[in-house]
Amino acid sequence: MTFLTRLDPSEQRTKDLSLTQRGRAGLEALGALQAFSASSVRQLAREAFDADADARTLSDEAPGVADKSAWRRWLGRAGDVAGRSPAYRVERFHQRYVAEEVYRRGIPAVEERREQFEAFFRMPDGPTVGTLELDPSVPMPKYYDKVEWHLEPGGWDGYDLYGALFAFAVGPHVFRHGGYAAVEVGDDILEHRAEVARQLPKRSYRRVYEPGCGGFSTMAAVHSVFPDAELVASDLSPLLLTVGHIMAEKQAVPVQFKQRDARDTREPDASFDAVIMFALMHEMPVDAVRDTFREAYRILEPGGDLVISDPPPFRAVSPFQAVVLNWETRHRGEPFFTDACAADWAAELRDVGFVDVDDYSLGEQGYPWITRATKPR
Ligand SMILES: C[S@@+](CC[C@H](N)C(=O)[O-])C[C@H]1O[C@@H](n2cnc3c(N)ncnc32)[C@H](O)[C@@H]1O
Repeated sequence: MTFLTRLDPSEQRTKDLSLTQRGRAGLEALGALQAFSASSVRQLAREAFDADADARTLSDEAPGVADKSAWRRWLGRAGDVAGRSPAYRVERFHQRYVAEEVYRRGIPAVEERREQFEAFFRMPDGPTVGTLELDPSVPMPKYYDKVEWHLEPGGWDGYDLYGALFAFAVGPHVFRHGGYAAVEVGDDILEHRAEVARQLPKRSYRRVYEPGCGGFSTMAAVHSVFPDAELVASDLSPLLLTVGHIMAEKQAVPVQFKQRDARDTREPDASFDAVIMFALMHEMPVDAVRDTFREAYRILEPGGDLVISDPPPFRAVSPFQAVVLNWETRHRGEPFFTDACAADWAAELRDVGFVDVDDYSLGEQGYPWITRATKPR
């Protein structure tokens, strides 16, 4: 889910980068199933939930604070109510089915065209505009490399052509329709990133840092909004960084990609005027998020701004939507999703020392959820 960099439209249409009919059709069926189910069938499930007498008390009894155990108990009750509806159960079956099948169908589809994709994901000829600094000495945190995130076989680095899988197979044929995790049917997750960048309050920035960048998607969005800003992006995954670097070079956008832990960027104190984090918090334990906030504070100059987008907190969504979000933890390789939605990032940022902290949603179901903050002058 990290390679969805919008390609030059001519490249996306190029016959040489297409899948075979079998590969394309198999994925398109999944995209259609997920979009239909996550809209029409989920709506039936939502209506059944809202009509259930036990659901009415849930809103009143939602935990008022970021208390993980209280939220888990409450979510257990809410999940029981949702599970009474056959529509909920079948919609969740479709979610899980699609989540597994995108790899079972997508990887063979990419393999059928391995040569063309290997050729595409090579560095373009000519001088480079950005840099890639891989550093195998950066330790992989314990929580990180044992997980098959989003059910991706082998985790973030588990398949050498994940770049092609997301950019040319699962991205355009399945994810493009939305309808998974916090993303609603019809949402454009690339446009989300640009909207998030626009939440940075100043009209221009000099140096922008993105920890947990995955590939190039969010930096591409930042570049579209702040074309003059110098961009530095880091991640732990060598594969994602390498693909990100290639994509940035293909689009001639200068980005310095570095293999770093978000908690230890090795950047000088006060060296950036903006930090952006997109879809990072829910991929880390809450303790690691706190350390990442401290690190962002350290590298921001006084008056510098932070913007974060992640799934919404349970407190900001309906009980039914909370059940839908909570489902991710057990069913889509998202061990920290529930803890992240139970947390209060705004309060955590104030604890670190940030000021002018606010949080709000850009979409109807709480997503994209924004948390903004500034380092005091
Ligand atoms: C869902 S992806 C989001 C990527 C990117 N921000 C985007 O907008 O597409 C989460 C990323 O967080 C990275 N990550 C998780 N823990 C990290 C850590 N401690 N330091 C740096 N990156 C980390 C993963 O490698 C993965 O690329």
